[in-house]
Amino acid sequence: MSQHVPLRKAVFPVAGLGTRFLPATKVMPKEMLPVVDKPLIQYAIDEARAAGIEEFCLVTGRGKDSLIDYFDTAYELEDTLKKRDKAECLDILKPSVVEPGSLVAVRQQVPLGLGHAIWCARDFVGNDPFAVLLPDDIVQSSVGCLQQLVAVYNQTGGNVLAVSEIPREHTNRYGILDIGADDGHLVEVKGLVEKPDPKEAPSCLSIIGRYILTADIMSHLAKLERGTGGEVQLTDAMAKLIGKVPFHGVRYKGRRYDCGDKVGFLEAQIAFALDRADLADGVRQFLKQYI
Ligand code: G1P
Repeated sequence: MSQHVPLRKAVFPVAGLGTRFLPATKVMPKEMLPVVDKPLIQYAIDEARAAGIEEFCLVTGRGKDSLIDYFDTAYELEDTLKKRDKAECLDILKPSVVEPGSLVAVRQQVPLGLGHAIWCARDFVGNDPFAVLLPDDIVQSSVGCLQQLVAVYNQTGGNVLAVSEIPREHTNRYGILDIGADDGHLVEVKGLVEKPDPKEAPSCLSIIGRYILTADIMSHLAKLERGTGGEVQLTDAMAKLIGKVPFHGVRYKGRRYDCGDKVGFLEAQIAFALDRADLADGVRQFLKQYI
């Protein structure tokens, strides 16, 4: 049995404008873009559920209400499918309906950065530990990425981040770790810098969009101090907790796709399609024509 408070809550920042995917995101939230046939947000919710999360908070913005509707029952559709004996379609819909009362949404009224988005969920978080999942990042793995972090959290408590090695020239795209003890799987976090210049980056180990955080982060976020890009950075607030709570990075097992980027998004389509028994052969066939 773990002596740490069990992780039951997760926050999903989904207020971004999705400008990189215009015009598709003109009237549709970026998080509703599908990889194969499932919206990005559903990948994040499924991964959270598999890790034992029971309470979900979407940090949304204007024009993002369809994300909330998505997790509700769709009575007319379900009724029509029942009358037409479409049991397989009804089964496909099941994971998109959450337990009654388990999903809440708060609005981030102004886009002041990821740290500000998380701070908007402070009442939901209360004093509990919580996970953060950025739906732009999807991870293909046999054990869900967040579940891998939970396994570590249950041993160490404190803050746990999913981390991944990147080429040095990309350090200015991510939060980067300064590393202490490192056993190849678990790394001790000694420092954190948001999007450092490759010449100044303390390592090439980057944060990907999966975090387990203690509630004390909120008092640092509440100061709304601006960092890189003039935004309130989650990375800066996390850096203030180093030395106060256990703080670890986990080299998770799996492959991450950056679906906030067009090439990453297209790669995810292919990778997830090739992983599907009903699609792999067809996709492999047509891919041959392009290579
Ligand atoms: C955010 C975080 C960054 C992290 C990244 C992971 O950056 O600020 O520390 O490495 O997500 O995807 P963004 O991608 O929002 O610029």
